[in-house]
Amino acid sequence: MDFFNYSNGTLYAEEVNLITLAQAYGTPCYVYSRATLERHWHAFDQALKNHRHLICYAVKANSNLAVLNVLARLGSGFDIVSGGELERVLRAGGQPNKIVFSGVGKTVTEIRHALEVGIRCFNVESVAELLRLNQIAGEMGTKAPISLRVNPDVDANTHPYISTGLKQNKFGIDIDIAPEVYAHATTLPHLQVTGIACHIGSQLTEVTPFVDALQRIIALVTKLNETGLWLQHIDIGGGLGIRYQQETPPEPKEYIQALNQVLSDSPYEIIVEPGRAIVGNAGILLTKVEYLKNTAAKNFAIVDAAMNDLVRPALYGAWQKILPVQPRTDQVEQVYDIVGPVCETGDFLGKDRLLALQEGDLLAIRSAGAYGFVMSSNYNSRPRAPEIMVDGKQMKVVRRRETVEDLFALEQTLI
Ligand code: LLP
Repeated sequence: MDFFNYSNGTLYAEEVNLITLAQAYGTPCYVYSRATLERHWHAFDQALKNHRHLICYAVKANSNLAVLNVLARLGSGFDIVSGGELERVLRAGGQPNKIVFSGVGKTVTEIRHALEVGIRCFNVESVAELLRLNQIAGEMGTKAPISLRVNPDVDANTHPYISTGLKQNKFGIDIDIAPEVYAHATTLPHLQVTGIACHIGSQLTEVTPFVDALQRIIALVTKLNETGLWLQHIDIGGGLGIRYQQETPPEPKEYIQALNQVLSDSPYEIIVEPGRAIVGNAGILLTKVEYLKNTAAKNFAIVDAAMNDLVRPALYGAWQKILPVQPRTDQVEQVYDIVGPVCETGDFLGKDRLLALQEGDLLAIRSAGAYGFVMSSNYNSRPRAPEIMVDGKQMKVVRRRETVEDLFALEQTLI
């Protein structure tokens, strides 16, 4: 459930009319709903109420400071994958001891900084990283809290680019060798082994792969117990899908219930790392029709947003719902490809959409809160769109529109 709904024939974000918002800030622009963000976060918190737990929102999904701040105020933790994300979380008021650090390529600088501020845990993805962490923590006279991110070799049945839990993926430590790596880790003096982590992929629409992965993790944890190693937490990663089209992903409640069958009364603190499920349907991309172009083969609606603003359709062939902000009742619908101004045939936001359109009409691209703005670029020297957060009747620019000056602010000519 989200707070983007029609009222009297116009689409609203909470209590804000999107026509008014577009007049105030121009298009294209991202619009987020605070109430939706909070609702989705609470859905996870509620679902986990019978376990000691920590929700570590996956910052990569949407790292705007206002989004992070809203979640930090709820008491959220954060899953980060870079020094940049660490800085953002701290700037937004997140607590260091609620941060887990994932990713296969943590640099020396990133590790040092994370140790300095005292994060909760490093989710270690290789033996080489384990050794590096031990060395740096030793130099700093401290101990690094670690989990091993285990690769359980489970097929997440999702797009191959966002599947991470198969043996052939670059992520995690092969579950078969994990016991040896744990044994090795316990001999390293500057590490403190605190948990186990796994993340098998993104946009999963069924519970089975999550359950399979957790069963394998629990079997491993039991094996570790037998060797005398007791962990404090199990991090089950993120990946719960959302509804873009006809998908029927489980609700957070059903997802956690299914996992509870495996966890039963296990004593471990449960960490989850949802990104998309919290922020995906809490955002839209608002765009304006610039031109309608009918050719012999196709009708095109050329809009002012493009693949540089929202790359998911071009990159993954992703389907996102496109709605007219003010649906026309005065003309028949036609089938359009919704395309941007970028000079690539791959620059489309939606194909074969039935819409009644005129130049100047506003369209809302739904489910754009996750992996939208964060994956945007300046390709074709297009300033990035602003991000607006709506809170009830209020609207606030939480990132201003880039100017053309911004585009070359960091550049120099030779002479
Ligand atoms: N934890 C780890 C270690 C991850 O790698 C990810 C996502 C998450 C949590 C959050 O997953 P979520 O709950 O958002 O599914 N750009 C792609 C998605 C890439 C996901 C990468 N990892 C897309 O637009 O579909």
